[in-house]
Amino acid sequence: MVESDRSLDGKVAVVTGAASGIGEGSARRFVEAGARVVLADIDDDAGQALVEDLGSDAASYIHTDVTVEEDVANAVAHASTHFGRLDAVFNNAGAGGASAPIEEFPIDGWERTLTLLLTSVASGVKHAAAVMKAQRHGSIVNTASVAGLQAGFGGHAYSAAKAAVIQLTKTTAMELAPANVRVNCICPGGITTSIFRREADSLADGLSGLQPIPRAGQPNDVAEAALWLASDASAFVTGHALVVDGGLTVGQPGRLRDAVAGATLLDASQ
Ligand code: NAI
Repeated sequence: MVESDRSLDGKVAVVTGAASGIGEGSARRFVEAGARVVLADIDDDAGQALVEDLGSDAASYIHTDVTVEEDVANAVAHASTHFGRLDAVFNNAGAGGASAPIEEFPIDGWERTLTLLLTSVASGVKHAAAVMKAQRHGSIVNTASVAGLQAGFGGHAYSAAKAAVIQLTKTTAMELAPANVRVNCICPGGITTSIFRREADSLADGLSGLQPIPRAGQPNDVAEAALWLASDASAFVTGHALVVDGGLTVGQPGRLRDAVAGATLLDASQ
């Protein structure tokens, strides 16, 4: 944590999925950096508890089901009505969604998952853009995933939705750039949160061997990236998919070496 970072001083941000995990970590980090934050989630108890922790001057909770466009519109509007301005929106809420082999995939589960992970982000960008274009400034950050970049990190619907979030980030970034509104996304790798529905210590143990950096990702790893993208420190960055994965998608060390164990490579100089 960078104690002296006040890069959101005086700013107001909306964070969806703020009651847990990456969203909670980001809300806490944004407040440390000087922001006032609208916490948007469906988990009212956890959301209200976070307000008590952060203080009602710095945080305000609003019940928001991101699958309902009107709720998203209300959460974005709450920033202006409650705190008087809107500078950043972090469209982050999500869950694993439906998962099954493709020939058994329930189409209602497919649609539910895409509504939660993709349509929700479209709603968030839409309603943030309406305010930010008019004021000619703002930063929108979306949570995608390494599952949107490579196969093997999520189910079909989850992965397709996250890939689409990356592309939606780019198309909207291009449209909104002339109005000085930036849109970026983050592709987290394995982060220790309740999305995995596993006890935190054993989850952290399990995730520590997943990527070249030999520890599990933590919500704050993503929060630091979200803070940078939300703040003016990244003023010339838009349409970017920032990978925060401890090197998970860099490559697979030693797999070829192991597959051809004992073989020697031809040395062209000989
Ligand atoms: P989490 O389970 O700790 O937090 C998710 C939050 O979203 C919860 O507070 C939950 O109540 C809220 N939420 C769920 N459905 C909602 C809805 N319909 N409306 C409003 N809020 C809703 O999980 P985590 O890991 O913090 O997830 C945040 C985002 O990060 C998700 O989009 C997830 O897909 C993404 N992600 C997570 C990774 C990980 O390893 N934890 C890796 C890559 C992406």
